[in-house]
Amino acid sequence: MRRTVTAAIACAWIAAATVASAEPPAGAAACSGCHPSSARGPSPVARLAGRDRAEIVKAMHDFRSGERAATVMDRIAKGFTDDEIQAIAAWYAEQK
Ligand code: HEC
Repeated sequence: MRRTVTAAIACAWIAAATVASAEPPAGAAACSGCHPSSARGPSPVARLAGRDRAEIVKAMHDFRSGERAATVMDRIAKGFTDDEIQAIAAWYAEQK
């Protein structure tokens, strides 16, 4: 029984690793709870999908430093490293 479970977990891990390149980078899923991950449909929160990569990076840095006022993004931006912000911004910029 234990061996079957271990094998199943190993298979799931391999499957996840195989499709990883099409998946959002770490942290990006945390944004789409508020920011829609696609450009379709109405949304009260600004879209990130299809936005310029540099624009997203700058906004995150400004939120993090406090240069740009925010209700929630200042706290959220503090939770991400520069590398994570770059990866998330690049991923959103590629979304349609
Ligand atoms: C809890 C909801 C929430 C989450 C989660 C969230 N945001 Fe935001 N975001 C907002 C709100 C609300 C604003 C408007 C600024 C403010 O009031 O904080 C905003 C603004 C922004 C802006 C500026 C948009 C513009 O039009 O200038 C960017 C860029 C952004 N968020 C990126 C992100 C990224 C990247 C993540 C994930 C790491 C994320 N947000 C997660 C709610 C959220």
